[in-house]
Amino acid sequence: MEMPGEDGYELWLRYRKVDNPGQLARYREAIPNATVLGSGATPDIVRSELARALPVLLDRPVPLLDQVQADNALVVGTVDELAATGVTLPQADCCELGEEGFLIRSHPTAGITQTLITGNSWPAVLTGVFHLLRLLQTRQDIDGLNLSLSPRIRHRVLGHWDNVDGSIERGYAGRSLWNWDDLQATTGTRYHDYARSCASIGINGTVLNNVNAQAESLSTEYLRKTAALADLFRPYGLRVYLAPLFSAPVQLGGLATSDPRDPVVAEWWRRKVDEVYRLIPDFGGFEVKANSEGQPGPQDVGANHDDGANMLAAALEPHGGTVLWRAFVYDVATDADRAKCAYKEFVPLDGRFRPNVFVQVKNGPIDFQPREPFHPLFGAMEKTLLALELQITQEYLGQSMHLVYLAPMWKEILDSETYAKGPGSTVARIVEGAADGHTASCILGVANTGSDRNWCGHHFAQANWYAFGRIAWDSDLSAEAIADEWVRMTWSNDPSVLEAIKTMMLGSWEACINYMTPLGLHHIMQEGHHYGPDPGFNAAPRADWNNVYYHQADAKGVGFDRSSTGSDAASQYHSPLREQFDDIDTCPEKLLLWFHHAPWDHRLRSGLTLWEELQQRYDAGVAAVEEMVSIWQGLQAKIDPQRHKHASKRLKQQLENARLWREVCVDYFGNFAPSKDSWRRSLDSWSKSATAPNRSSSDLTTV
Ligand code: GCU
Repeated sequence: MEMPGEDGYELWLRYRKVDNPGQLARYREAIPNATVLGSGATPDIVRSELARALPVLLDRPVPLLDQVQADNALVVGTVDELAATGVTLPQADCCELGEEGFLIRSHPTAGITQTLITGNSWPAVLTGVFHLLRLLQTRQDIDGLNLSLSPRIRHRVLGHWDNVDGSIERGYAGRSLWNWDDLQATTGTRYHDYARSCASIGINGTVLNNVNAQAESLSTEYLRKTAALADLFRPYGLRVYLAPLFSAPVQLGGLATSDPRDPVVAEWWRRKVDEVYRLIPDFGGFEVKANSEGQPGPQDVGANHDDGANMLAAALEPHGGTVLWRAFVYDVATDADRAKCAYKEFVPLDGRFRPNVFVQVKNGPIDFQPREPFHPLFGAMEKTLLALELQITQEYLGQSMHLVYLAPMWKEILDSETYAKGPGSTVARIVEGAADGHTASCILGVANTGSDRNWCGHHFAQANWYAFGRIAWDSDLSAEAIADEWVRMTWSNDPSVLEAIKTMMLGSWEACINYMTPLGLHHIMQEGHHYGPDPGFNAAPRADWNNVYYHQADAKGVGFDRSSTGSDAASQYHSPLREQFDDIDTCPEKLLLWFHHAPWDHRLRSGLTLWEELQQRYDAGVAAVEEMVSIWQGLQAKIDPQRHKHASKRLKQQLENARLWREVCVDYFGNFAPSKDSWRRSLDSWSKSATAPNRSSSDLTTV
């Protein structure tokens, strides 16, 4: 019998009956009923989640009891509420949880074993409830539980690049989720489902608007709309942030300047921030893009980043708000190598930011490329809070058309040794604050959500939203473990499906690197939309807006020389990395062309010359996508037809695109490589048809 079609709306919160009879019996025995203590919006959300999940998972009614009785099986409440019913947990255990951690504990009492879910706040308890449901969804043993889990990073934020007109910058899943036109009037279920999904993976903040900001986002009219969303999101533990336009005092306030050193400007911000907090008492703060890609900033008036950030921080500080000041700057006057600019601008400012300012740094020094080395600012500003910015929306990685599971990339960054304080000072420990003794910490992911029914355009792009939340909560989780959870919850617990999908996902990032930008190549995507290949692009007015700037291919070789014979960006890293990157023989091959202009006949570890290896990588990338397509085809009978067909269509497009990438890049670089005829592909046998990027994805959502 064919399975009923699914549209993917449920995401990973897809509750289905536990199919293994033995396991079902054990779960039923453990959870015959549940009691949620307390009253209020979050306890009600917990009740409705349990009422939605348990009867389906256990395939029978699971009464939700109002009162505490001797035979309560699952008891959910804050530490204080549990204590009021006579269940006192050791003080040390409760303190360790902090504000957001939760505890799930099997608790033998009067002949039965209760399962307790508790924490010091209701949002913490909600996260714990989702965790228990995840254990059931992924078929884990729930006997003898003693879990105490707390997030390692305090602010775990999604950044939406959404504009007030409903469009999304770098959005590939339809329009904005926020309906600004009638926000106060409507309280749609989609808003709840968004917040619920965030809560289920521990995300606790959301920046509602684009970093390329519009002044009106701070107008009273829009603040009221923002407050309506904040009210909806609050019970889910989700705080709202905004991205303000730095020159708003001029555009909105009618002032003559937005100079942060001018007391009149500071006063305007103070009043504006006070207004924000009157409407949104738990407002998170501001994410600011300043003096970057044409956005206004303090440097326009001769001030610097610290002046701007500190002025906003002073206004936010009495309310407990935070500034996320982005370090994505690359003024040509700073350095001819774009990769060096942020470091040169920000390192001299170390120690000058107020305690509620994060300098927010992208994972790599250029711009969310398929692979970059970690940003050298990590490990270079020990007196400054550094937030890590990742991009969930796959701007440069095939957008919502390509299946690319990003957790392995994020893990590579987080696990990178910076050597700032010797071995062990990884990017993760710096972001968590542990390496430099900071107690505040922040990670932000540029969201990939939109109005498409399945939220993210591609069913598999949901995995990246999920993985961001899980990694933000615990950066020690492996990409494989996260994929395992996600596949079980989203697709199936059938071992053959699980292993097949995990194989596709875990190889997909390396496949994408290979068919787009192997061996450290970067930024050779088509101009503007960044979807397809265009290594030869050279028509922009600024050198670093051209693709030829990034690969520098010529008759001698290919790659950007960032060693000591070139821009010397390698020296922005600590020893021993700087020496390792500097030397072509010790530089990791995955970053070879990032740091070196390597000769075409340079020998790689495989024994092949650079030119041979480059072609082989492009081939390997295409072969990996062919494999993904064939694995997916093999799953047809085991996946619901609607989602199977939807993903099949995109995988086929991914394969076409991968072939096109190979064709264009091998053809292009072959023009420089000396031995091109020996290895060059028979280009005629490949399709020359360019694949148009699909930005709204709507034509593929109704397959
Ligand atoms: C990239 C992206 C822009 C975005 C910018 C940013 O350059 O292409 O659309 O505004 O990053 O992060 O600010």
